[in-house]
This record gives sequence, C-alpha cells and structure tokens, in this order.
Amino acid sequence: MCGIVGYIGEQPAYDVLIKGLHRLEYRGYDSAGVALLSPDGELNIYKTRGKVDDLERFCESKDVSGNVGIAHTRWATHGEPNDVNAHPHFSCSGRLALVHNGTIENYNVLKTALELQGCTFRSETDTEVLVQLIEYVKETNDCSLVDAVREALKEVIGAYAIAVIDVNDPDMIIGARKSSPLVIGIGDNETFLASDATPIIEFTNKVVYLNDDEIAIIKKGQPLQIISTDNRPAEIDIKTLRMSVSQLEKGGYPHFMLKEIFEQPRTIHDCIRGRVGSKGATVTLSGVIENKDRFLNAHRIIIVACGTSWHAGLIGKRLIQEIARIPVEVEYASEFRYSNPVLTDRDIVIAISQSGETADTLAAIQMARKCGAFVYGICNVVGSSIARATDSGTYIHVGPEIGVASTKAFTGQVTVLSMLALAIGQLKGSVKPGVAEEITSSLRRLPDLIKQALKLNESIEQLSGIYTYVHNFLYLGRGFNYPSALEGALKLKEISYIHAEGYPAAEMKHGPIALIDHELPTVVIAPNDELHEKIISNIQQVKARGGSVIAVVTKGDTTIADIADHILEIPEVAEPLSPVIVSIPLQLLAYHIAIKKGCNVDMPRNLAKSVTVE
Ligand code: M6R
Repeated sequence: MCGIVGYIGEQPAYDVLIKGLHRLEYRGYDSAGVALLSPDGELNIYKTRGKVDDLERFCESKDVSGNVGIAHTRWATHGEPNDVNAHPHFSCSGRLALVHNGTIENYNVLKTALELQGCTFRSETDTEVLVQLIEYVKETNDCSLVDAVREALKEVIGAYAIAVIDVNDPDMIIGARKSSPLVIGIGDNETFLASDATPIIEFTNKVVYLNDDEIAIIKKGQPLQIISTDNRPAEIDIKTLRMSVSQLEKGGYPHFMLKEIFEQPRTIHDCIRGRVGSKGATVTLSGVIENKDRFLNAHRIIIVACGTSWHAGLIGKRLIQEIARIPVEVEYASEFRYSNPVLTDRDIVIAISQSGETADTLAAIQMARKCGAFVYGICNVVGSSIARATDSGTYIHVGPEIGVASTKAFTGQVTVLSMLALAIGQLKGSVKPGVAEEITSSLRRLPDLIKQALKLNESIEQLSGIYTYVHNFLYLGRGFNYPSALEGALKLKEISYIHAEGYPAAEMKHGPIALIDHELPTVVIAPNDELHEKIISNIQQVKARGGSVIAVVTKGDTTIADIADHILEIPEVAEPLSPVIVSIPLQLLAYHIAIKKGCNVDMPRNLAKSVTVE
C-alpha cells in the first residue's frame, strides 16, 4: 500500500517521478505528492488529494525544476485522504521532506514526546512523526542526515519504507526499509528508488533490493552505499531484471484488467514452460526436487494466503490431498499469524501471494519459520519480500499484474498448485494411474482452452446489461469449483460494488435459499464433473423460487441449458483444472458489469493492489 519513488541524476526529476507514480498508482490512489530540490536551493513540495493526474494538474503552473526528488501515492491508513495528510511530509523547519509506505505503530508516543520538545504537527498521519523525529535527532545531536535517520529509526516500531531529502544536502537521498519493500535502480549517473521495480525498468534493469534494517545512501555521481541500522556496511547485491516496459502498459486495451484477462493464454503458457514437457506425464519443479526429503517426510501442509490467493489455496488443498495424499489446511494469513499454531519441522507451510508483499502473509511466514516449519512460496513478483523470505518456492511467471482485481495471477496460482500436487505425488508415488497423464495433457491444452473461453466476451458484455443494476448476487459451486464461486463473487464485489456471496451449492438450502427471489440472480458453476447431477438439483431449487440463473456449463450441456436463464459454455477440461477455465467467464462478467456501472475497474474505491499493512 502506498507507492514511493525517488530520483537523483541528470534528468528532470519531476518527469521521472510522475511517470513512476503512474506506474505505482495501483498501490494506492487517495492522494499524491512530490518534493523537489530546485537548482536554486529551494525545497518545493506539491501534494493534493486524488490521483496522480490531479497532482499533475496541480503542478501545471508550479516550479518543478531540479534533478533530485521524492514522490508518493497514498492509500490512507492514519488520517483521511486530504491535501494535508498527503505525502511528502516536511519537518518543522521545512528543510527535510519524507515519503513513507508502512505503518508506525508507536507514532502516538513519539508524537507526544516531540510535541513536548516544541514540535508542531500539521497532519493526522503516523508518517509526519518520522520526519519530525529525524530533524529533532539531527538538530539535537548536530549530526549528518544519515546518522539522524539511523538513530531515529531505532525509536520506531512498525513497518516502513522511506525516502528522505534535505535542502542542506541537496545531492543525496536516504532510503530505509523494515517490512515494506524498497528497490534501488542503478543507472548511468542516476539512481532510482521505488516501492517496486515498475518505475525503474524503463531506465535500467540493474536493481538492488534493500533488506530489512538497511539504509541506502544515494549520492549524485557516487556509487550506492548501504549500511545497516547498527552502522555496518552491507553487501550490495545487484540483480538484473527481466521485466519489459510493454508489460506495464495497456497494450491497446481500455483497462489493465481486460488486458490481463486476455493475456491468460500466454501467461499460462509461460507458467508451465520448462515444467511440463511437450510429451510425457512428468512435471519438473526445481523447488520440489531440491527439497525432496522435506516433501517426502511432510506430515501436513498448511496453505496461508489472503483474498484471491486464499481462494487459489482452497483449490490447492483439493489438488494436493487428492494427488499427493498429504493432509492440507488452508488458513487466512491474518488469522494464522495470531493463532498460536502447533507447527513442527515435518510441516510445510505454502504461502501464496501475487505481490509477494502482503503484510499478513509475510508475518505468517516469519512465524512459521521460527516454529521450524519449511516454508514454500508461490509468488508472482520476482525478488519480492515473500519470495525472499521463504525457504524455496515456485514463481507463477504471469508477468506484472497491475489491475487491482487479480485475474491472471489466480489462474497462474491454480496452475502452479496443480503442478506442485503432481510433482509431490510423483515423488511419493501416490498418483493414481491415468491422473498424471490427464493433468499434464490438460496443462498443455490450457492456453488453447482459455482462448476458447475468451470467445464468450461479447455475449457476456451483452448479458451484463441485464444485471448492471441489481444489488446482490449469489455464486454457487461445488467441489473444485466451490472456491471458484468465492472468487467469482469477490471479483464482482470489488470492482462493481455489488454485494455478492459465494457459497457451496449444497449449503444454499441451509440458509441463503431464503434470499432467493426474482431480484437475486445466481451464478451457478456447473461444468461436467462428478457432482453434475447434484448441482442440477441446486439449479432447480433456485428456479423453483423465482430466482434467475446464469450457469457456467460445459459445451453441449443441454440439460442445464433447458433450465437456466442464461448459459455460458466453456470447453471440456479435466476436473482438477476446471477452475482455471471457469474463472474466465466470471472475470469477464465482473468486468463488464462494473464497466456498465461506470466503475473504475483498475482502481476500485478503497482498495490497493498490495496490502502491506495489517
Ligand atoms: O498479493 P497477494 O496475492 O498477497 O494479495 C492478496 C489479496 O490482497 C488480493 O488477492 C486481493 O484480494 C485482490 N484484490 C483480489 O482481486
């Protein structure tokens, strides 16, 4: 949550920072701001409520000169989204400016102490405490900015990624992190700093990921220096990124979400590449091979995740239990971390996260590792905090996901989980005859099957017109597709603001059936599978009570076509992989309804792409 970006070099900093903020806007879009050190020694700070476009309009007639600056796009935690609470925040003297991503837990104590020393606070944010504290330490100790940041951070409890500039030290930016991400980009005579690599990649593919409790000293024309908060020099490990700028653009689509939905044939191809061969029934996952004994000896697997990744985890549970015959539990990371779980070194914790930065998932991992469990990550963002905090893992390799609603990451996660289940099952010899062949051949066909499902786009767009203004939706599914129902409902509610509930179809009669009337549409996920007959009865129960039914069915299903109000036909696919194909019409339905309602699908209200606060 919140995106920060910094630049020092020879280009006009404002242009680099604004471009960077646009790339980071998916992390928060309540307000935005920029602080620039001008050539004539001024610190110019401009900030406003709203999006980065609003900031640009605000800056139109302002002095935005200078080659050094920091900027921020906010997802509000402390204090409402307004101009004053927007970052950058500045010190009492007006000489220091700071941007922050994270939450300062002891800000009230620090604020009171600073107020007693005569500091005046302007905003309601936790962040302002940081900049005031750094200035207070700097002035009372008469020390350098680096030392002041280092000493001040010792007093701070919480999570932070910060960037600080000082009008008295105009050729320097200080960055620091603890539990919130910070990446430094190394260019020719220029250095970048950002919450993730997306603002940097256009200028350089050489990056350094700052670790917790490290401080980066970025000086114009000088090599990067990193020290620890206890003042020891830290290693500078330069990585080369393989991301491209085109992956960060809409590529002709009106929204990132639609682009990401349509990218899925390619992203799934990338996800299975090198893991499932063009022939044979084996799956190769290096993370499983390298940790063979861990998987062979595992007593139990616990999947921890949040949101959409948690839904993928529910599908993973069925896959792993059925194919690898290991008991699996699925926990919300936010609950798991505080549940005092009984964990041993025979437990494997699988953490699933698109961003690799979700605070609760990261904390769950740290706790699990402390208890001796082996932690395996399934992430999308290469080099992210979760990817680095886990013992081993498998990337989903679906490329940057910018739309706040997760689409291609979900299908990538389910695809990786199916490969993981098979890889473990093959290791253990628990795979039933024919299953490996069925799964691997379906995995190879997935990109093509997704292409076929995408052909539903036009008919779903028309269908969405009928349901644009309903207030509630019910989503039902069974077996592998009960989590698909949860995911379909989440997609709809987060981007269209229509209340939607996902339910196991057979559970409907234990309560939700009371809601059914002609105003409540029900989406029933009913591909051909073991429970097909049963779900037909569930559809009839809805119809008998005057509800309308949109059914996702396997092509050629005439039985459901005769009962449902609308059918969305998907191609035949092996049951364990059906959630991947089913999710295509559900994503498109949510997208088109939200668009018809005039919602901003890429930046839905109150949400942010990576949730780096509790
Ligand atoms: O980056 P993560 O996968 O850890 O994110 C978890 C959730 O915040 C995320 O899936 C969220 O629910 C999405 N907005 C769903 O579309």
